[in-house]
Amino acid sequence: MKYKAPRGTQDILPPQAVEWQAFEDSTRRILSRYGYREIRTPIFESKELFLRTVGQDTDIVQKEMYCFRDRKDREFALRPEGTASVIRSYIENALWVERPFQKLYYLGPMFRYDRPQKGRYRQFHQVGAEAVGSLSPLVDAEVIALMGELVKAAGVKKTILKLNSLGDKESRRAYIPALREYFADKEKELCPDCQRRLETNPLRILDCKVPSCGDLARNIPPTEDWLSKESREHYAAVQEWLGIIGVAFEKDKRLVRGLDYYTRTTFEYHHGGLGATVALGGGGRYDSLVAECGGPDTPAIGFSLGTERVLLAASQDRETGGMGDSRTRELAIYLAWLGEEALATAFKLAFSLRPLIRVEMELESRSLKAQFRQADKLNVSHVLILGQDELARNEVQIKEMATGRQENVRIGDLEERIKAGIRNFTIDRIPEKTQ
Ligand code: HAM
Repeated sequence: MKYKAPRGTQDILPPQAVEWQAFEDSTRRILSRYGYREIRTPIFESKELFLRTVGQDTDIVQKEMYCFRDRKDREFALRPEGTASVIRSYIENALWVERPFQKLYYLGPMFRYDRPQKGRYRQFHQVGAEAVGSLSPLVDAEVIALMGELVKAAGVKKTILKLNSLGDKESRRAYIPALREYFADKEKELCPDCQRRLETNPLRILDCKVPSCGDLARNIPPTEDWLSKESREHYAAVQEWLGIIGVAFEKDKRLVRGLDYYTRTTFEYHHGGLGATVALGGGGRYDSLVAECGGPDTPAIGFSLGTERVLLAASQDRETGGMGDSRTRELAIYLAWLGEEALATAFKLAFSLRPLIRVEMELESRSLKAQFRQADKLNVSHVLILGQDELARNEVQIKEMATGRQENVRIGDLEERIKAGIRNFTIDRIPEKTQ
């Protein structure tokens, strides 16, 4: 019998995992510099949570959720996104008591029954950030800039930032009839889902994945024309602040995003190499969601990036220099030994050096030549050789792989040598462009 990973999922094998770790590390570092703290929520939640927040008429809820019943017949869904869970947790744990303005981030897998293709998977990963508790347009500008910084740090060079505003509840209420009127004479050409949406939730027509519906929506009235005075001022201030911090954007009147909870600002980052319908990430304000879920009236804004898409875009941009070029060669040791007497000393030595450095060790008693081949494969910077002669003198021989330079060092001096010598071991030999 042959087993395969489920359709739309993928294994992240060790060489790719290195890239994932680098992305996750830089992401965590940047987020914490902006004052965001990690929150970890369950991978499944009650199905009802997503129906109420993401929205009954969205593609996510209608077509893409992985739902299941447990043994007590309770209905759950694998999380299709992170915002609903964060807000559920914010309310359940009364996080506003600890801090009135909470800045939270999360990293992890999400699940959507999408048609698998480049950049679209059934299990994918998001990095998300949610700033809960402020209506200031400064927060919008900061969140949008932060998202851009994460993408840039991953090595993605050319991005397009799309920006729109849906307005507050009042503005949306005024806009919906205008949208219905626009689609009235096009109803028959819409897909069956959108014909229903025209009645229940016409905004959802704008992110329908059926191409003909996208074409029909091309000339919709701009949401901006229906903004209330307050929302218009807010949108203008967001644009102004983005200008002040030098973040370039394009206004996109059709950017309503595929989830129901958005109010006012919406935004998406795109990359030329992924195609127009596949965003690197997106987000927006959701000023009513906390109250709608039973919490205090609390404005909020956030975004999520798709990790697979960001890494895909970064690899496309790599020829012109991205994260891939800046990776430094790893300092690591391969411990080669000859003769059973050397084995015990080598085995103990490996344990004592591992707090300082990666140590691989020969476990099979092979020839020195075979051990060097293995060391080369494992891409270590140095081989330590422990044979009978070295053992008798309480020494090891160090060989630097890049240069072939060798020298003998007393075992007792090794730790200090590694600690003090980490720089002059290799870094000074790495060509400048790879540092
Ligand atoms: P979203 O636009 O549904 O927003 O997803 C955000 C990002 O997740 C997408 O731009 C994309 O990079 C990635 N993504 C979504 N679906 C897939 C898929 N099937 N395969 C690969 N990547 C995918 C949200 O999820 C909101 N929670 C964002 C947000 C946070 N808004 C406010 N706060």
